[in-house]
Amino acid sequence: MQTSLAVVLLGCIALASGRCCSEGDADIVIKQWASVMNAAVSGENRVVIGRQIFNSLFLKQPAAPALFPYGSDLDGAEFGAQMSRVLSGLSNAINSLTDDDLNVSIMDHLNKQHVVRDGVTAAAMKDMQVSIEDTLKQLVTDYNDDAWHDCLGVAIERISVGLPA
Ligand code: HEM
Repeated sequence: MQTSLAVVLLGCIALASGRCCSEGDADIVIKQWASVMNAAVSGENRVVIGRQIFNSLFLKQPAAPALFPYGSDLDGAEFGAQMSRVLSGLSNAINSLTDDDLNVSIMDHLNKQHVVRDGVTAAAMKDMQVSIEDTLKQLVTDYNDDAWHDCLGVAIERISVGLPA
């Protein structure tokens, strides 16, 4: 509760690294995410974004495809549905960045969905962050590296609590 109050007063969600996702950073990230999602109006285009993110993740984490019951077929309908779930989760994570209590609660829920899955690691989550950043860099005009890195860092730190290294 005290942490949350300090966060509101400082207008900044602090990361363990000491860096922070300020309200200004969060506003930028929310707007830039909306620009990508609005441009990718159809579900089909969103799947293209999801596919790029997962393709990049699987190159960094060769053991990851085996964690999914539908394997590594990124073109299949089942993985399409998974990408849609992940992008929805990511949207919730990003859009709640200016409301710390809400973000904590959303990320806690996502965390609980992942800690129960053997093989999901904090390192894979870090790689997921890099894959998301690399994908968005190519799609967002005036992509703000620091804002994205610090604010996504908050979400990834929270989804990773209790995961094996
Ligand atoms: C930004 C990061 C991520 C987000 C927002 C996210 C989101 C989600 C969501 C919403 C689900 C569905 C949960 C459910 O209905 O139970 C899910 C499932 C899952 N996630 Fe993630 N995820 C992320 C990163 C990762 C990473 C890095 C891995 C592992 C390499 C991973 C592995 C899984 C697995 C194995 C499932 C279960 C799939 C299934 O059985 O159909 N996730 N994820």
